[in-house]
Amino acid sequence: MPKRAKILITGGAGFIGSHVMRRFIKTDKYHIVNLDKLTYAGNLENLKDIEDSSNYEFIKGDICDFEFVKGLFTRNNFYGVIHLAAESHVDRSISNPIEFIQTNVVGTMSLLNAAKNSWNQSANHRFYHVSTDEVYGSLGDEGFFSETTPYDPKSPYSASKASSDHFVRAYGNTYGLPHVISNSSNNYGPNQFPEKLIPLMIHNIKNRKPLPIYGKGYNIRDWLYVEDHARAIELIFEQGGNGETYNVGGFNEWKNIDLIHLLCDIMDKKLGNEQGTSRKLITLVKDRAGHDMRYAIDASKLNSELGWKPSLQFAEGLEKTVDWYFENEKWLNDVTSGDYQKYYEEYYTNR
Ligand code: NAD
Ligand code: DAU
Repeated sequence: MPKRAKILITGGAGFIGSHVMRRFIKTDKYHIVNLDKLTYAGNLENLKDIEDSSNYEFIKGDICDFEFVKGLFTRNNFYGVIHLAAESHVDRSISNPIEFIQTNVVGTMSLLNAAKNSWNQSANHRFYHVSTDEVYGSLGDEGFFSETTPYDPKSPYSASKASSDHFVRAYGNTYGLPHVISNSSNNYGPNQFPEKLIPLMIHNIKNRKPLPIYGKGYNIRDWLYVEDHARAIELIFEQGGNGETYNVGGFNEWKNIDLIHLLCDIMDKKLGNEQGTSRKLITLVKDRAGHDMRYAIDASKLNSELGWKPSLQFAEGLEKTVDWYFENEKWLNDVTSGDYQKYYEEYYTNR
């Protein structure tokens, strides 16, 4: 790899992207170009502390614009790509699947094509696709997703991510494009948009609003602190094998209802409420269509090959997350003003 290699990170203004960006910029090993369309989920406030770094540039643009992406690759001699830009919320994919095909499939194709043409079969490059464990479908009470679990996506979001994973591997197989893929479980932490479970509940508890739990709250997710994911991404980008896949997970399964109980208790303590106050806001609502029951990741390959393991206990990570949302009230107020109210009413009122 060349010194201060130029890498393209897509979706760097989003939740996970901003943590990846910060990590990579601080190492000072790379020159980073952040390509982001700044959709509702992209926020340059997430990058305020690093925006003046000399090894960083931001470009506002759409990964689906083939000509623009091609031009970007022609003007820059990218050593690698870390592709995170996506439509990422399952509920939105249920009401608007087309947008997910466009961004997640067509957008990924546009990047793959530009990389293929620009790198011209040279092995000294790397296309890294950051993907999700949802491509594997849904688990019953037993077992874990491993890298060899057959794909069985069940929502428009996961089908679009599965499709883009397949295209990445197809470009590797057909055109020799050097690539690596990781499939991660549910992330949580600072800067997550309050449409996802944990920040949505933090926002609602703060505002004494109902806490909408889908179905009975028995669905299970495997939670991973976002900075641990960013550390895994750095390791995989630098040391992962060509053509390999790595699962990333928290070894941390929680039933939604138990997680929300824990969150309510943490927040009651911080708000000086009597214990049990916030739990009273819990409201069981109509289930998500096709709701996957359980995700659980076997991340032993990443552990044994690259030495990665999550660093935080869940209660500690959750407390850090709650503290961040308390300390960044302006961030939360800004992202929940304007169109957010419309979103909230559409998805939750009379659900
Ligand atoms: P996010 O929704 O917070 O951010 C997505 C970013 O992509 C935003 O900055 C947005 O502006 C940008 N973007 C969207 N469409 C674009 C386009 N057409 N062109 C350029 N930029 C565009 O997402 P996230 O939660 O940070 O997830 C990042 C990636 O990680 C996604 O690919 C997602 O599928 C994957 N992932 C997420 C999780 C999770 O728990 N959040 C877990 C596993 C994998
Ligand atoms: O597993 C990785 C995936 O995790 C990522 O690929 C996705 O980008 C990310 O959004 C996440 O998907 P989920 O659908 O699991 O996350 P979400 O936060 O939307 O929901 C978590 C669980 O909580 C799920 O079982 C649905 C439930 N839920 C969610 C919301 C928003 C509720 O009960 N109520 C809610 O209001």
